[in-house]
Amino acid sequence: MRLDRFLSETGVCSRTEAKRTARAGEITVDGKVISDTSIHVDPESAQICFGGVPVLYRRFVYIMLNKPDGVLSATEDGEGETVLDLLPEKYKKMGLFPCGRLDKNTLGLLIITNDGKSAHELLSPSKHAEKTYLFECEKPLSKADVRVLENGVDIGEKSSTLQAKVEIESSTRGKITVYEGKFHQIKRMFGAIGNKITYLERISFGGIPLDASLSRGEWRELDDTEIKILTGKAGDMLKTERLILRKWMMSDAPSMFKYACDPDVGPIAGWPPHKTIDDSRVIISHFLDHHPYCFAICLKEDIIHPIGCVELKTKTDLTDKADELELGYWLGKPYWGNGYMPEAAKALLKYGFEELNLGAVWCGYYDGNSKSKRVQEKLGFVYHHTSSDLPVPAMNEVRIGHVSLLTKDKWSEMNNN
Ligand code: URA
Repeated sequence: MRLDRFLSETGVCSRTEAKRTARAGEITVDGKVISDTSIHVDPESAQICFGGVPVLYRRFVYIMLNKPDGVLSATEDGEGETVLDLLPEKYKKMGLFPCGRLDKNTLGLLIITNDGKSAHELLSPSKHAEKTYLFECEKPLSKADVRVLENGVDIGEKSSTLQAKVEIESSTRGKITVYEGKFHQIKRMFGAIGNKITYLERISFGGIPLDASLSRGEWRELDDTEIKILTGKAGDMLKTERLILRKWMMSDAPSMFKYACDPDVGPIAGWPPHKTIDDSRVIISHFLDHHPYCFAICLKEDIIHPIGCVELKTKTDLTDKADELELGYWLGKPYWGNGYMPEAAKALLKYGFEELNLGAVWCGYYDGNSKSKRVQEKLGFVYHHTSSDLPVPAMNEVRIGHVSLLTKDKWSEMNNN
């Protein structure tokens, strides 16, 4: 790729500015000052500096925009404002386009990217990428209306719409999830049952929820996990019969807060209830930065809203050996008593013993937490010792803690390996 194109596509400067800067001797490639910006560079391997600052090459950019009312989902429009006009100048030369369309008066999540292949795959009818909308409609919805919307409705195409999911919040308000993206689909579905959409906001797309911290018109780049989920490259997901364990995303903060604010959830595991969504955001960023084997537990049918957390922790009070980690977990209270925790932890233990080659996994519970004790017994952990004066710094307490151990041999024996 030409150097001037590289600099403009990475949003550093225009081609003209690149020329000027090169003449001033301020551009280097692999340490050599470059005066001719028409030279070809390998963007993947060349070390390019602009004004002494290294330029990071990102082949593709993925942006989440909270689309406001009245803006067009187009790349250019003679008259009105487009979603691209809401982005800063540095993105203008990157060949970005909206991945699918929202009507001018539809609000919410719009992905903007320059990754044509992934966008094409996401939008292809066979992919069935899910899209969830908050809606308000003119007339009250009857149970029969909901059944029709869910089972497929004739909107004048060759075939009826695919199965959808409707969650009613009041007779004229709710959420609808569809797995296809026909032109004006939601408005036409409601039109077909003699109703009319009066408000429409997309709150998730392709497994990515709209980040609740973005106001209308605000945007941010997707984080690595979100990109993997969106582009179907989340190979580091673990699957069980009923659950998907995936990496945490910054946009999970409201879902985490919903359960982590419950005084019955954190304190029994040694951490205080979250007071605000920002508390949850801080914890998630810590997971992303420092906890490589920390997974959000999601129900298979709703990979967007985690219901708990399971983790193999490194360097804990119980062990600092490289081939021994500590299992930790919590689950939102509404999901207790269904066997979800052992199911999630079992998948992570399999990953730990088979993929990470662990020799043993430690686990503990504070005295009186009989639910956690039962989880560990179900997983095959064996009682090891009790500490009678265990500091619990986050709670400013000292507690009795029971520690158990699962060795690889015991795990292999239980799993007939
Ligand atoms: N369905 C619609 O009717 N409009 C949108 O903007 C998106 C889905």
